[in-house]
Amino acid sequence: MRLLAIESSCDETSASVVEDGVIRSTVVASQTRLHSEYGGVVPELATREHLRNLIPVTRAALDQAGVSVLEMDRVVATRGPGLPAALMAGYRAAQALAWSLGRPFEGLHHHEAHLYSPWIAGDPPAFDSAGFQPHLSLIVSGGHTLLVRVQAPLRHRVLGGTLDDAAGECFDKSAKLIGLGYPGGPLIDRLAAHGNGRAVRLPRPMMDDPGDDFSFSGLKTAVRYHLRDHPGAVDTDQGLADVCASVQEAILDVLAGKLFRAARREGVKCVTVSGGVACNTGLRRRLAAEGARLRIQVRIASPSYCTDNAGMVGVLGWLRTRHAEPTMDAGPTLIPPVEGDVLPGWELDPVPASGS
Ligand code: KG4
Ligand code: ZN
Repeated sequence: MRLLAIESSCDETSASVVEDGVIRSTVVASQTRLHSEYGGVVPELATREHLRNLIPVTRAALDQAGVSVLEMDRVVATRGPGLPAALMAGYRAAQALAWSLGRPFEGLHHHEAHLYSPWIAGDPPAFDSAGFQPHLSLIVSGGHTLLVRVQAPLRHRVLGGTLDDAAGECFDKSAKLIGLGYPGGPLIDRLAAHGNGRAVRLPRPMMDDPGDDFSFSGLKTAVRYHLRDHPGAVDTDQGLADVCASVQEAILDVLAGKLFRAARREGVKCVTVSGGVACNTGLRRRLAAEGARLRIQVRIASPSYCTDNAGMVGVLGWLRTRHAEPTMDAGPTLIPPVEGDVLPGWELDPVPASGS
């Protein structure tokens, strides 16, 4: 079963060919440079870039996989959540392609795609069916912070989310206050490596709250007040590194603390992490060390599958052909159904394991 996957929910246009769960190609056109000039993603520009990039990116993915579009058995695309017009660009293109090929089409949940990205391993990259086990998963991106319990492939329950800013947003907004560029996460990551994470006292919002929700806006405000009350705090290289390290340390304490506490409470022996913030080198190091100490397996998506990409969307598409219970009997149709619009605010609904 060979499928073509398209992703366009935010500022990456991506296409991937996945064959029986093995990623044959993933091509990503990132718009980071374009948006950095404006200090954040500009939806109009993102949509225009998607429209410009969709065909060359798809063609490159097919070329790299050495297949023709006529050899695709199925087409999938991100349906939500994301920027409405950006989603629409990729989703409608994929629908039209499926319709013209006479192949089935499915719109997929972006966070569900992130959810299984830590299980993409090997060369060529494939879904690690053999290693799969019940686990807790942390999705940390620019727009979302989610803690999810995954019982079996495609069977999950959301335990908590962010009440305000996401972890990535906190990195980006703090970086802006410090006077760094966009996106701020990778910049703070780099500078923090030379700093002292205990140099500035910052809050760890909701860290001791017994629930699984997160909140990061108070931390960002504390960074603002620190900079206001300490003019010149980031004027020296060491001062800058220390503030960056302190911000990162506070975010990591909350993420790692809440993830492992929930893992122990839920009795799982494995945790996974995905989304752009999972690229953070400090977070990767901290989780590996903490997991070894607690004897909990830690799987973090490889950096190329952390930021938005169609490879993870294709793997989810393949998983759904294998594990999802059919939601309706489509009956024999000459042209498979390709109706349905994008869902920009789509929540990750619970999908309980059968019998539980
Ligand atoms: O998953 P993603 O590519 O896009 C969304 O769906 O939001 O995540 C982007 C976020 C941004 O906030 C960016 O600053 C953050 O991921 N990020 C990082 C790092 N690399 C990307 N945050 C911390 N450290 C990094 N190395
Ligand atoms: Zn994402």
